[in-house]
Amino acid sequence: MARIKVHDKEFEVFLSDEQIQEKIKEIARQLEADYADKKPLFIAVLNGAFMFASDLFKHLVMDAEICFIKLASYKGMKSTGNVITAIGLDQDLYNRHVIIVEDIVDTGKTLFNFLPKLQHQQPASLKIVALLHKPEATEYDLAVDYVGFSIPNKFVVGYGLDYDGLGRNRREIYQLAPGT
Ligand code: IMP
Repeated sequence: MARIKVHDKEFEVFLSDEQIQEKIKEIARQLEADYADKKPLFIAVLNGAFMFASDLFKHLVMDAEICFIKLASYKGMKSTGNVITAIGLDQDLYNRHVIIVEDIVDTGKTLFNFLPKLQHQQPASLKIVALLHKPEATEYDLAVDYVGFSIPNKFVVGYGLDYDGLGRNRREIYQLAPGT
C-alpha cells in the first residue's frame, strides 16, 4: 500500500482519488434534488475545505452561489465557551438557503459554536455538508446533514487536510499508518 511521509509521520492511502470524486458526484446529485430552484448559498470553511468545495461546486448543475470564510476562535472575556468569528462573511443570509461546506467534522466543536451566529441572520434553511465525519469523535450535538464518508477516529491528511501545514496537496486521503 502506498505510503507517504508528512513531517515525522507515515500515512497510508485510505480513500483514492476515484472514490472521493465518485462520492462528491453523489452528493452533488443529492443537493441538486434537494435544492432545485432554491439558489442555495454555499459557505466553504477555509483552509481545509478548499478542494472539496471546488470539486463539489464544479459538479453542481444548478444555480448556486459560493463564498469562502475563515473561522477564528478566541476565548470570550467573560463567556465560558469559545467565541467563533467568521472572516470574509459579507453576504446577507436572511431568507437564504445556506449550506456550510466542511472538509471534516471531528468533535463538532467548531461548527457547533459557529452555527448560532448564522442562525441569528435568519436564513431560510441551514445545513452542513462534510466530506468526512468521525462519528466516534463527536462531542457536540451537531447534525451533519450530508456526509461523504464516515471514518474511524484516526488522523487523516490529504485532499485539503493538513498535518501541521503539509499534506493538503494530495488527491487522495491518507490515514495515519499503524505503528507511527
Ligand atoms: P472539530 O471542531 O473538532 O469538528 O474539528 C474541525 C476541524 O479540525 C476541521 O475543520 C479540521 O481543520 C480539523 N481536523 C479534525 N480532524 C482532522 C484530521 O484528522 N486531519 C486534519 N484536520 C483535522
